[in-house]
Amino acid sequence: METNLKMTSLRDVLKQAAADKIAVGHFNFSDLVAFNAIVAAARDRKLPVMVGVSEGEREFTGVREAAALVKAVRDEYDYPIFLNADHTHSIAKAEAAAKAGFDEIIFDGSALAFEENIKQTIKAIEAIKSINPAILVEGEIGWIGSSSAVIDKVPAGVGVLTTPAEAKQFVDSTKVDVLAPAVGNMHGMLESMVHGNVQKRLNIERIGEIKAAVKIFMTLHGGSGTNDDDFKRAIKAGMTIVHVNTEIRIAWRRGVEAGLAALPNEVAPYKILGRAVEAVQKVVSERLELFSSK
Ligand code: G3H
Ligand code: ZN
Repeated sequence: METNLKMTSLRDVLKQAAADKIAVGHFNFSDLVAFNAIVAAARDRKLPVMVGVSEGEREFTGVREAAALVKAVRDEYDYPIFLNADHTHSIAKAEAAAKAGFDEIIFDGSALAFEENIKQTIKAIEAIKSINPAILVEGEIGWIGSSSAVIDKVPAGVGVLTTPAEAKQFVDSTKVDVLAPAVGNMHGMLESMVHGNVQKRLNIERIGEIKAAVKIFMTLHGGSGTNDDDFKRAIKAGMTIVHVNTEIRIAWRRGVEAGLAALPNEVAPYKILGRAVEAVQKVVSERLELFSSK
């Protein structure tokens, strides 16, 4: 990616990525281990990056505290790092993120009936843009499950694909900036995916059809455990943001366990947690390379 690694707007970074047919990596964090690892991986690869905090992650980090971390990196390195309020279900929480200075807010009404999702998303956009019109708002349609966890079976309802017609109706009615459709993706990983025996497969043709119908930025959620070639083809077909979380959480846990096992008498967290930073950084770095290669 021909990147001007100076702080600019998220919209401009996405425009450039879409023109280059590459994607911007979005990685979730809920502590400094993952946050620092994501920043280190992005800076090392010299790529813009998005970091996200879900409602649960925000409850742990703090809304303004997450924003302050991102601001600190921008101030220190003039770096294009962007903060997303991932999977936000209430307008009050969307407003809190908007006030704290988030760059993107995902209003996730995907569990609602389609018409209700449209209604609530319109309300959320009004509320967010009245606080800061520059914030990008993403809407979600289709059910892809809800947890970035190791799960024992595919959640009921996952696997039904978004149609180009409903995507167009949703985008035309709500005027969202970014769309997250269901295209074979799923949140979380089955055990078999953690072991690498099974991979998520995407419907590339459907991604292309939805992109042609909506002509706005699209996000691929549920990136963990996806087949590499499908990632690349999905990005070429129109996905401009790719979310990865479960892979990070697994790396975090394994890294913490390795640190504790290696240093059984150590009590300084920053000494124990070094391995967790390395493990998360490796995941992010590999994903960033894949998403940004032409
Ligand atoms: O919004 C977060 C993502 O969509 C993460 O999905 O945990 O399957 O990578 P994942
Ligand atoms: Zn997601």
